[in-house]
Amino acid sequence: MTAFSHILNVADARRAASRRLPHGLFEYVDRGSEDEVSIATNRSELDAIRLSPAVLVDVSRRSTEAEILGQRQPLPLVIAPTAVAGLVWHDGEIAIAKAAAAAGIPFCVSTQSITAIERIAAESGARLWFQLYVWKNRQRMLALLDRAWAAGAETLVLTVDTAVGPNREYNLRNGFGIPLKASWRAGLDVALHPRWTASVMLRALATGGVPTYAHYPDGFRTKLGRAALSDELSLAADVTWEDVKLLRRHWRGKLVLKGVLRVEDAQAALSHGVDAIVVSNHGARNLDCAPGPTQVLPAIADAIAGRLEILADSGVRRGADIARFLALGANGVLIGRAPLYGVAIGGAEGAGRILDILANELRITMGMLGAPALRDLRLAPSGA
Ligand SMILES: Cc1cc2nc3c(=O)[nH]c(=O)nc-3n(C[C@H](O)[C@H](O)[C@H](O)COP(=O)(O)O)c2cc1C
Repeated sequence: MTAFSHILNVADARRAASRRLPHGLFEYVDRGSEDEVSIATNRSELDAIRLSPAVLVDVSRRSTEAEILGQRQPLPLVIAPTAVAGLVWHDGEIAIAKAAAAAGIPFCVSTQSITAIERIAAESGARLWFQLYVWKNRQRMLALLDRAWAAGAETLVLTVDTAVGPNREYNLRNGFGIPLKASWRAGLDVALHPRWTASVMLRALATGGVPTYAHYPDGFRTKLGRAALSDELSLAADVTWEDVKLLRRHWRGKLVLKGVLRVEDAQAALSHGVDAIVVSNHGARNLDCAPGPTQVLPAIADAIAGRLEILADSGVRRGADIARFLALGANGVLIGRAPLYGVAIGGAEGAGRILDILANELRITMGMLGAPALRDLRLAPSGA
């Protein structure tokens, strides 16, 4: 019996996380935007994808090995960048990155991480990618990239689906924002979750002060500094293909665009020398009328015809969802909330439990499908 043997699937971890985390933080992790149509779309479109089983195939040896951006890895997974993992668990980014290292998959550090990339690199041993939100001050942005490169990030992920701040009304109602602000509502929420308060908040206060974005310059941590720097560091709404050119010139590693949902944009990524795209609607957190990535992935894969690597995310809760994305033409899949639920209930061990569950579900699905390797996964003919 392991410590998390009662957690049998991602939904169990989500329920346990909802009890442990303050309500405002749990909703920030879990919910979507506006009327949350897109969350339902992601789920229903994934559920609608049927995979075709081949029978009488020897599946006694199955391999979930994949090649992503030139690296062979035991699972076709990458940990998606998620701001504030470090609020969900003390040093949560390091904890998830340790689980990723144990599973042999990359961990993508967020620009808005609570823990700095240097510490994640030193303490986790994981292969690191770095996700970028473009700041209005491009010089500061390039300085941040130099920092990420020096810390060992091998791949840069430019998020292209967040040109403006998303409309998440629950955050306003809950008084949730970063840097954390004191309010009666937030105080009550914290008081009602003593385990989280003791293990995350009080530890943070004792070691480094109120948790905030670690990659923002030091001045950002003071109220005055925040006011002065806020314009320079707010997310630029004028990010264009010119920025992709700038990043392609500046960044020596692989370059990935995350949040592509159009064939034309995938083709433009190809002509700009990008190495991979992530077909994603940001886990339904941004644009509530966005298509589910599974709705556009086949057309993008057709048009790209192997000339660019295609990754995908949004909505993976089962190993079968990973198989669905791969059968539609993705080379690899990112997971965001699933490891966050895991880390919320048990740090690196909890995140590791989620990776084990998803890997095991994927292996069972492959066995049932008569697919000894990931390339053997097939869609059922439409109407089947
Ligand atoms: C709490 C949270 C924070 C996120 N922060 C970022 C971020 O800073 N940058 C980014 O590109 N995507 C961010 N995402 C989106 C994820 O990278 C990913 O696209 C999404 O979570 C995938 O959907 P899933 O959660 O259903 O797996 C975030 C997602 C969550 C749940």
